[in-house]
Amino acid sequence: MSRRSWAEPFKIKMVEPLQMTTPEERERAIAEAGYNTFLLRSRDVYIDLLTDSGTSAMSDRQWAGMMLGDEAYAGSENYYHLEEVVRRYYGYRHVVPTHQGRGAEHMLSRMLIKPGDVVPGNMYFTTTRAHQELAGGRFADVICDAAHDASSEAPFKGNVDLEKFERLVAKVGAARIPYFCLQCCVNMAGGQPVSLGNIEAVSAACRRHGIRLMLDATRAVENAWFIQQREPGYASWSIADILLRICSFTDGCTNSAKKDCLVNIGGFLCLNDDALAEEARNLVVLFEGLHTYGGLAGRDLEAMAIGITESVRQEHIHARVGQVEYLGDLLTRAGVPIVRPVGGHGIFINAAEFLDHMPREEFPAQALAAALYIDSGVRAMERGAVSAGRDADTGKNIYPSLELVRLTIPRRVYTQAHMDVTAESVISLFENRSRVSGLRMTFEPKYLRFFQARFEPVHPSGRVLDRAGAGR
Ligand code: F0G
Repeated sequence: MSRRSWAEPFKIKMVEPLQMTTPEERERAIAEAGYNTFLLRSRDVYIDLLTDSGTSAMSDRQWAGMMLGDEAYAGSENYYHLEEVVRRYYGYRHVVPTHQGRGAEHMLSRMLIKPGDVVPGNMYFTTTRAHQELAGGRFADVICDAAHDASSEAPFKGNVDLEKFERLVAKVGAARIPYFCLQCCVNMAGGQPVSLGNIEAVSAACRRHGIRLMLDATRAVENAWFIQQREPGYASWSIADILLRICSFTDGCTNSAKKDCLVNIGGFLCLNDDALAEEARNLVVLFEGLHTYGGLAGRDLEAMAIGITESVRQEHIHARVGQVEYLGDLLTRAGVPIVRPVGGHGIFINAAEFLDHMPREEFPAQALAAALYIDSGVRAMERGAVSAGRDADTGKNIYPSLELVRLTIPRRVYTQAHMDVTAESVISLFENRSRVSGLRMTFEPKYLRFFQARFEPVHPSGRVLDRAGAGR
């Protein structure tokens, strides 16, 4: 059969020119930013792969929806539209909008976690765990071992290890576990999906122990794509039907709508329990805004409602994940060590293996992200020891098994040519990897340190990338 490629299911109506810079300018910019890509000014960035969060291109329909913003303080028409759409596609009874995902995480943690509680989950996420800890809880990782192995080709590396979960319940007791936090796909594992079979089994185990199951639905649409493609029995199911089925096994969700839902700002908390939903509607007034706007403008609610309906379309999700796979294939063919199989929202370079000459104490992923920026103006994100922070009990640095640089692909924003340019830069750095040297931390914020930490090169030259011969 002849090959049939996917292509973007849209054409481009408006363009945003990109800023071109020289390597010398970028060297200065990253030094000023303390070798932290979060601290770069976006005008100094060429291809911005820092995150897929809030960086989507909205459709003409969404922009038209923005003009239908009903900016009433209470009872905005757009809230009712959003409520109807979330109920239709996610299937939960109650919907409380929030300004973004962490607003929902904050409320959920505050409502359910008591000091000393333990919250199991399939790998931590930074803001999720921070809110669990702020509420006095502790996160316990019960993801399967394959998730920590960058080279394992297992199709559902986001899956929960049910034995680990049972052992945890036996150790701390179900009464100390307010809920299970199930993330689909798993961001820090490389965007790895969870199978429906596993979700069903986790749900059954939670029911048996009387523990609530809360979904982090931030990338559940991408997870649905992988289920359709990889899990026997679902090939003929629509993305919307799979998404509904995922949610049907859970008691509610937090969602950062800045990812799958194709908006620049927004989120929501969903609950099936009437009493809990009542409490959430009380809390949201204190922290976000009235329960019919949750810190968002009416126009944002409308864009979110329309974005959700677009997000579950087959051709959209095919091209979205297809573009990530395209970049992954280029790097894999060149021998660059990346987390395999390629996940839903980005490519995760295995920095510990890429820079195997560098000790973990010199933050290889942070150094590689800085070097990549100098080489080509591509902005990536560290997802390793800096992101993992310190152990809440001992205060020691956590060195997670995965020391990664994330090339996160915004939705509907970049073209295949941008992916080519990105791959060429990563491959050139890989071929010249001995020219990358490590970093030491010079400033460490108390919370979520990766956002604002500052570094300096350990090399006597004061450089993180020796450019002689590398780059252009
Ligand atoms: N859960 C997951 C799985 C996430 O990836 C994020 C955000 C959140 C919750 C928090 O949502 O940012 O809307 O408050 N992830 C972004 C990222 C920041 O770059 O991966 P938020």
